[in-house]
Amino acid sequence: MKKIIIDCDPGIDDSLAIMLALQSPEVEVVGITIVAGNAPSKMGFENAKKVLNFLGRLDVPVYVGADKPRVRDYVNALDTHGSDGLGESFLPVVEGQSIPSKSAVDFLKETLRKGNVSVVALGPLTNLAQLIDEDLDAFLAIERLVSMGGNFRSHGNCSPVAEYNYWEDPDSAKVVYNTLYENGRMIEMVGLDVTRKIVLTPNILEDIKKANPKVGDFIEKITWFYFKFHWEWEHIRGCVINDPLAVAQFIDPGILKGIEAYTDVETGGISLGQTVVDSMGFYRKTSNALVYTDVDVDAFWDMFLNRILSLY
Ligand code: BDR
Ligand code: CA
Repeated sequence: MKKIIIDCDPGIDDSLAIMLALQSPEVEVVGITIVAGNAPSKMGFENAKKVLNFLGRLDVPVYVGADKPRVRDYVNALDTHGSDGLGESFLPVVEGQSIPSKSAVDFLKETLRKGNVSVVALGPLTNLAQLIDEDLDAFLAIERLVSMGGNFRSHGNCSPVAEYNYWEDPDSAKVVYNTLYENGRMIEMVGLDVTRKIVLTPNILEDIKKANPKVGDFIEKITWFYFKFHWEWEHIRGCVINDPLAVAQFIDPGILKGIEAYTDVETGGISLGQTVVDSMGFYRKTSNALVYTDVDVDAFWDMFLNRILSLY
């Protein structure tokens, strides 16, 4: 079993990613850390607890991290994820769950220093940039760092060129990518080029509901708002579920393929948050990112459906 920390901003698709991870025998989720992103961090904490409650896994600790980006003002994505950050499912807040006094960054430091722990980051990289500031060795001890964020050839999802997680906090994303470069390390970038292909369609949802009404009902409750958003904005029947793909790739590195390239993040101007992937080697710099470009869509759905349907 590989130990992972899920750093996230739940979030509809973050919740589906947590479900997949906790249904996967290959990984042990040693903790969940929350960052301000889709939802403010306190709401993200409550949502993580709601998902863990549904999974019967309130034993998994949840820590709260940054409540705003490193430099820029915080902009939530509740227009995409609903006013409760969980698709306006308005699931009741889980009683008796208070925010631990230990911060997300302190938890990351102490856990990563023990070694053999990976991080799957599903939100803005604010907590990880703060970890770099406070304890570079702990950051460099991360076994595998898989981040849902960025885009290479695909268009953005919150500007023509930028993906939400890196657009929300480009300064932190830049610190993370630059630090990896300076230390000869790599990030696995699960960007929009591959996640756009993972569309939860009404047909797939119907199948889930038929096969497992309890799971299907939960997923329908948290995704209907996302369906509506995707139809209005992108004319897609269904919703793109980005974050579970990062978990799936962590578990089965055969799901995605990509290229290694030096990658940096723009922190200002009209291309704010854009990932600049030097696939042609113009800068003559060593690679700091494995940028995924191809996805085995069937392998993803095989893994995702088999695992979530075996709940209950
Ligand atoms: C990313 O932004 C968020 O809205 C999703 O949770 C995902 O992590 C996609 O751009
Ligand atoms: Ca997310």
